Amino acid sequence: MNTAVGIDIGGTGIKGAVVDTASGELLTERFKLPTPPDSSPEFLLETVTELFGLFGDVSPDTPVGIAFPSIIINGRTLSAYNVSTKWIGVEADALFEKTLGREIHFVNDADAAGVAEAHFGAAKGQPGLVFLATLGTGIGTALLYNGHLIPNSELGHIEINGVDAETVTSARSRERAGLSIEEWAVRLQTYFERIELLLSPDLIVVGGGGSKAFEQFAPLLTLRTPLVPATLRNNAGVMGAGYLAKNDHRPRQSS
Ligand code: BGC
Repeated sequence: MNTAVGIDIGGTGIKGAVVDTASGELLTERFKLPTPPDSSPEFLLETVTELFGLFGDVSPDTPVGIAFPSIIINGRTLSAYNVSTKWIGVEADALFEKTLGREIHFVNDADAAGVAEAHFGAAKGQPGLVFLATLGTGIGTALLYNGHLIPNSELGHIEINGVDAETVTSARSRERAGLSIEEWAVRLQTYFERIELLLSPDLIVVGGGGSKAFEQFAPLLTLRTPLVPATLRNNAGVMGAGYLAKNDHRPRQSS
């Protein structure tokens, strides 16, 4: 069976669906609940449990993947930019496993999106280095080399002129500052130009909610790297979490 549950926890919403890990399709509707205003472990776990209930009966053999907006090492959340800082240093995978009463696969949200785009979307079959950026509450990034994920890249936080890039270039920062497409494009140009200088990727994929405006901002950017929109759009995190739960059973390193 190629089914898995994918859950994508973001700064504003928590999405989930049952996915087909062979075809990359969603087998149920994509359910979404708002991220609780206090996103500390207690409240977030409650919302994820509520979301899980919406899938109906999920057999205990169905792999479950959870994507989370943090550096994740051996199931521990080591950073928290767009969720409560109470997540820093938490054995998050164990906490989710206890709460849901089953094993889960825990992964960074942008990494999940990158894996999904590499298998089923905009970067399918792309050799060399793919850089994916999700423009949402923050900027999530994924690096894939010949289809293999290099996890926890966190390149949304590169400093440009002493400023953390995501705080001025994410889709949320655009909304907050009320930027026009042209104004936002100037910031996106600065960001992607720096990425291009540092990494020389073969392809840049832009995903997240902000990629809905791709057709408007992309023509305003001048880059030597091909730039394409993520084709799985907002389903990529859900898809990738499910895919990794099914296919990536790496034994945990002892720490
Ligand atoms: C976090 C990343 C996450 C990204 C997108 C950033 O603020 O540091 O871990 O992937 O937001 O949610």
